[in-house]
Amino acid sequence: MPVIALQGTDTKWTCADDDTLMRSALRAGLGFPYECNVGSCGNCRFELVEGEIEHLRADPPGLTERDRDRGRRLGCQARPLNDCTIKVRLMPRYKSKIPPARHAVELVGTCDITHDIRQFRFRPLDGSSTFLPGQYALLEIPGVQGSRAYSMSNTGCDGEWQFLIRRVPGGQATNRLFEAIELKDRIVLDGPYGMAYLQEDSHRDIICLAGGSGLSPMISIARAAAQALGGRRLDFFFGGRTARDICGSDMLEELPGFGSSIHYHPAVSTSEAEGWNGYRGFVHVVAANLVGQRLPDCEIYFAGPPAMAEAVQKMLVERKVPAEQMHFDQFF
Ligand code: FES
Repeated sequence: MPVIALQGTDTKWTCADDDTLMRSALRAGLGFPYECNVGSCGNCRFELVEGEIEHLRADPPGLTERDRDRGRRLGCQARPLNDCTIKVRLMPRYKSKIPPARHAVELVGTCDITHDIRQFRFRPLDGSSTFLPGQYALLEIPGVQGSRAYSMSNTGCDGEWQFLIRRVPGGQATNRLFEAIELKDRIVLDGPYGMAYLQEDSHRDIICLAGGSGLSPMISIARAAAQALGGRRLDFFFGGRTARDICGSDMLEELPGFGSSIHYHPAVSTSEAEGWNGYRGFVHVVAANLVGQRLPDCEIYFAGPPAMAEAVQKMLVERKVPAEQMHFDQFF
């Protein structure tokens, strides 16, 4: 197994032959910076000082031309071919509270939530389902090159890894998941990952904003937070294009405090919303109108399509929400 050394320090760790440089560092308990895990965000950039690596994705969007010219690589895409020395700034905030690991899991149930969102329930063969509410895992789907990141919707207490996954039109991975994977089939799951998890020490009110399969991590956070809300309030916003995209209310209604401390605000963004009597407009606008004054005093979690996440972030910055109170993982 290749040994990775951090230039100018005594820090060294081993990287399994089929692992990436960044994930092996996280498994070793080191704070290697990252976010998306799929080559998009660029947070895991490092400099290769010595040794050889191969990149899993030939042209990952997280690496610019300038990065390439400077010899930078992506830790989440780099597989070392021999011992390497690298330069990267490790940061304590990226140190995993639960070191990620690969688990064989079996599909034990599915359930359609909307016309394009389905719940998938996997049971780990090793019995391990420990993760923080809001985190994600990488699924290795047979027939699909590379792994895909999906957020969990449960809290892991039930011994399962559950996901709410939106079928992407023409998407190879979701097509395989929806069409080819059957009950009792086994796949490999690698996790948990992600920094946008529930801040259990915070005493602030909570706001969750979700769109599409962003519902999954937000439901996980709401489920965990509901157990210890005390006198706090949780506002849950969910945005869809049309009425048939709207979901999540039944999951929230099961939680203690629904209707008193937990409030659900669904919104549709298009005019084709026949029979829809709820909020209309983009979810970030609806949230700004309803709870805008309170935003800077809240812990805010959001997940959804890139355009939605970007609009929410911009709105929160305009409303002067401190960066440390915004929690999201960038996927695009
Ligand atoms: Fe590697 Fe996002 S590009 S973590």
